[in-house]
Amino acid sequence: MLTVALPKGRIAEDTLAIFEKIFGTEFRFDDRKLILEADGFRFLLVRNQDVPAYVLHQSADIGVVGLDVLEEKDEDLLRLLDLGIGKCKVCVGIQEGKEIDYSAPELKVATKMTHITQKYFSKKAMAVEIIKLYGSIELAPLVGLSDVIVDVVETGSTMKQNGLKVVETILESSAYLIANKNSFIEKKEEITSLYYKINAIVN
Ligand code: PRP
Ligand code: MG
Repeated sequence: MLTVALPKGRIAEDTLAIFEKIFGTEFRFDDRKLILEADGFRFLLVRNQDVPAYVLHQSADIGVVGLDVLEEKDEDLLRLLDLGIGKCKVCVGIQEGKEIDYSAPELKVATKMTHITQKYFSKKAMAVEIIKLYGSIELAPLVGLSDVIVDVVETGSTMKQNGLKVVETILESSAYLIANKNSFIEKKEEITSLYYKINAIVN
């Protein structure tokens, strides 16, 4: 039995659709249930940012999660395969008509992705004050909480509708199949066999 952590929402749906194609059976969570057992798999429905924790602590053997989350959490996990779903970008955004002031002593950045943000601006040798938020990031520059934001952009409509534009792209993200390192040794055959089946569908 393989336990698979999936992030609630679109990526879980797209992943289950891949499993349906492979195994020819229906994989669907009942209403509010968070565990689904079927066909030798146990699927766990978790928050996007929590997938790495479930896999790292081996509560799940494998998982599916965005590269943005993997880079933010920076845990010791195996990245097996880019599934090509859940595509988005992690971008620096600023208000229309404004530009980043590179001469300012410190740039105020609002984000929920503090690790990616810190790493990106220290590479550029720019001093930043990071303001950690948990959502509605696009609001911060509109009310003077920050100069810029670092956030996920998918369609671009949240930024657009709030008068923001992308000034820099930090990361192009898509969802990856990941594995716990011990599970990969203990259940090598099961995981490898699944890997080849998924690979045949997505590539
Ligand atoms: C995410 C993300 C952006 C938006 C990007 O927010 O933080 O705000 O979606 O998508 P778009 O480019 O298609 O508009 P989410 O809806 O998860 O809300 P939250 O940030 O408040 O958690
Ligand atoms: Mg948002």
